[in-house]
Amino acid sequence: MGRLEGKHALITGGTGGIGLETAREFLAEGATVAITGRSQERLDEAARQLDGPLLPILSDAGDVPGQAALAARLQEEWPRLDILMSNAADVTHLPIEEWTEEAFDRLIATNLKAPFFLIRALLPLFSRQASVILVGSVSAFVGHENAAVYGAAKAGLLSFSRGLTYELKDRGIRVNGLSPGPTVTDTFKPLGPERQAAIYAELRRTVPLHRIGTATELAKAAVYLASDESAYTAGTVLRVDGGIGELAY
Ligand SMILES: NC(=O)c1ccc[n+]([C@@H]2O[C@H](COP(=O)([O-])OP(=O)(O)OC[C@H]3O[C@@H](n4cnc5c(N)ncnc54)[C@H](OP(=O)(O)O)[C@@H]3O)[C@@H](O)[C@H]2O)c1
Repeated sequence: MGRLEGKHALITGGTGGIGLETAREFLAEGATVAITGRSQERLDEAARQLDGPLLPILSDAGDVPGQAALAARLQEEWPRLDILMSNAADVTHLPIEEWTEEAFDRLIATNLKAPFFLIRALLPLFSRQASVILVGSVSAFVGHENAAVYGAAKAGLLSFSRGLTYELKDRGIRVNGLSPGPTVTDTFKPLGPERQAAIYAELRRTVPLHRIGTATELAKAAVYLASDESAYTAGTVLRVDGGIGELAY
C-alpha cells in the first residue's frame, strides 16, 4: 500500500481487462487515476467498480488529434502527471487478403501513432520523475496467426521505450514497455465461447508455464514500472508472458 502515494496516473483503455485491473491496483497504492474508454456507459460501470479518486474520460485512443484534447483536459484537472500507461489497443487479427487500407490505418493510429502524439501532448504536464508504460504484446516478438499488422504495430510501440527514453531522459521521464502474453480478459469474447475455449486450450499448451496470465498479474507489474522502485529501469521491456516470448515449449 502507498507505493504510488501522491501520484497522478493516466491509463488509456481503463474500462476493462488489464487497464481496469491496473486502475484498481494504482488506486489501492494511493494514486489518483484517470481512465479512458470509448463508451460513457462502460466508463460509468468502471467507476462503479473502482474505489478512490478517479477521473473517467471519454476518449478514443485511435483519434490522433483527440490526444491533444485529452492532454488539455488533464492539464485543467491536475497539477502534473506522474504515470502514463498507454494500454488501449486495436487487436484486429486478419489474414493478409482481408486487410483494407482503412483497417490497417486505424490499427496503426490506435496502437502506434496516437500513443506517440499523446506522449508529446503530455510533455508540459509530466513531472520530473515520470514513468511511461507502453503496453506491447508477445506478438511483437513471435509470429502468430493473423497477427502481422498487430505485431508490427506493437513492435513499433515497444521500440518507443528505447527511442523516447533516450530523448526524454533529461526531462526526468522514463519510458518502458510492458509486454503481456496470453492474459484472461474480454479480448477473445467477440469470437464466441467455443472459439475462445479452443484458443485458451491451445494457449495453455503453448505457454511454457502452461497457463494463461491474469490481468492482476499484469497490473502488479505495472505498479512496479509506475513506482519509484523502478527508478533505474529505463528503455526496456518487461515481459509478463509465462515465458512464451523467450522460451521454447
Ligand atoms: N489479453 C491478452 O491476452 C493480451 C495479450 C497481449 C497484449 N495485450 C495488450 O494488453 C492491452 C490490454 O488488453 P486487454 O486484453 O486488457 O483488452 P480488453 O479486455 O479488450 O480491454 C481493452 C480496453 O481498451 C479500451 N479500448 C479499446 N480500444 C480503445 C480505443 N480506441 N480508445 C479507448 N479505449 C479503447 C476498452 O474500452 P472500451 O471498449 O470501453 O472503449 C477496454 O477498456 C492491449 O494493449 C493489448 O494489445 C493483451
